[in-house]
Amino acid sequence: MDFIKDIRSQFPILDQEIYGKPLVYFDNAATNQKPLRVIDALDNYYKTINSNIHRGVHLLSQQATGAFEESRKTVQNFINAQYAHEIIFTRGTTESINLVAAAFGKKFLKTGDTVVISTMEHHSNIVPWQMACEAYGAKLKVIPIEETGSIIFEEFEKLLDGSCKIVAITHVSNTLGTVNDIKKIIDMAHNHNIPVMIDGAQSISHIKIDVQELDCDLLCFSSHKMYGPMGVGVLYGKENLLNELPPYQGGGEMIKTVTFEKTTYNELPFKFEAGTPNVGDVIALKEAIDFILSIGYNKIATHEDHLLNYATAQLLKIDKLRIIGTAPYKTSVVSFLLDNIHPYDVGIILDKLGIAVRTGHHCTQPLMDFYKIPGTVRASFAIYNTTQEIDILVEALKKVKIMFE
Ligand SMILES: Cc1ncc(COP(=O)(O)O)c(C=O)c1O
Repeated sequence: MDFIKDIRSQFPILDQEIYGKPLVYFDNAATNQKPLRVIDALDNYYKTINSNIHRGVHLLSQQATGAFEESRKTVQNFINAQYAHEIIFTRGTTESINLVAAAFGKKFLKTGDTVVISTMEHHSNIVPWQMACEAYGAKLKVIPIEETGSIIFEEFEKLLDGSCKIVAITHVSNTLGTVNDIKKIIDMAHNHNIPVMIDGAQSISHIKIDVQELDCDLLCFSSHKMYGPMGVGVLYGKENLLNELPPYQGGGEMIKTVTFEKTTYNELPFKFEAGTPNVGDVIALKEAIDFILSIGYNKIATHEDHLLNYATAQLLKIDKLRIIGTAPYKTSVVSFLLDNIHPYDVGIILDKLGIAVRTGHHCTQPLMDFYKIPGTVRASFAIYNTTQEIDILVEALKKVKIMFE
């Protein structure tokens, strides 16, 4: 397809050989690659306007501040938040969730309360909540899933009792590819006046998210999983809720006044942005968003769904290959086991054939326990991947299988 060829030409890293073989990059759920416009934005920032923001009277500081706040507006429009100050810049999804769990826990959790998550959460959406529960005497409750990797909604409903103070759940499973029906989850929780935090780390580059349409209370995602630079994340929160939460970290920027006796805190979004932020990377995130929008989510979904369906069909033709995660609605991730060959061995051999996949538990150990497996091999796709690359993977897996016979 010509348009994919054009897209690939914007990603210089893809045009290289690994051990003498053309690189096939299928580790996109871990991090995806960056188009030139993102790399150039970063380069340009450090060459032309690098300076600290918000408090500078000099021109460079004003320019950097302008570009930084422009990025905030871009994120606001991207997810259709009502206000720019509902967008908090963090280091990534992990920091966004830690912020929510720590601040929400301090304000709202007490002995006997529950926090509801699901079986398919990434450790980033388990451990911060465990820590908050431990600190305030609350309990973590887990929504069970079917063997396919779908939420059991009847069981979810049962957890929405008077003790539940928040539901924190992933939009897309990084291990299974399951796309959870977050609109339904949010509506069900709201029927009981329970707020919902969505982990959007794996959905943001594949699925259009409109926080107002979803009526989502909190949303977390990472720039590096959406063609943007590493080291930047976003926390979106409804204004009223964010205003109720106490600050997460103390330091510069997040204060209004400081005396040795008492500190008063800044307004949103600065209340949650203590210290010097990652200015250059935040500015380059705007380019990543513009890259996604320049293609459009419809085109992205059509291409990636095609890759997912093609990969699923081709992989299932391999004898004794078992796909883990067969929910009816999935995106861009295929996890599998090849006969009884350890996923790590498969990954090592694929690497020597130029194919980058991820192996292991994918930071979802409780999910591996559910399936009673140590890990999987995971191939995950992005807009620049092709069916020819999937053919290369399939042929390579056949070779791996022969080697272990
Ligand atoms: C579903 C999910 N949540 C959270 C994270 C954590 O993201 P980060 O490491 O960018 O903070 C990941 C990363 O793989 C993820 O897949």
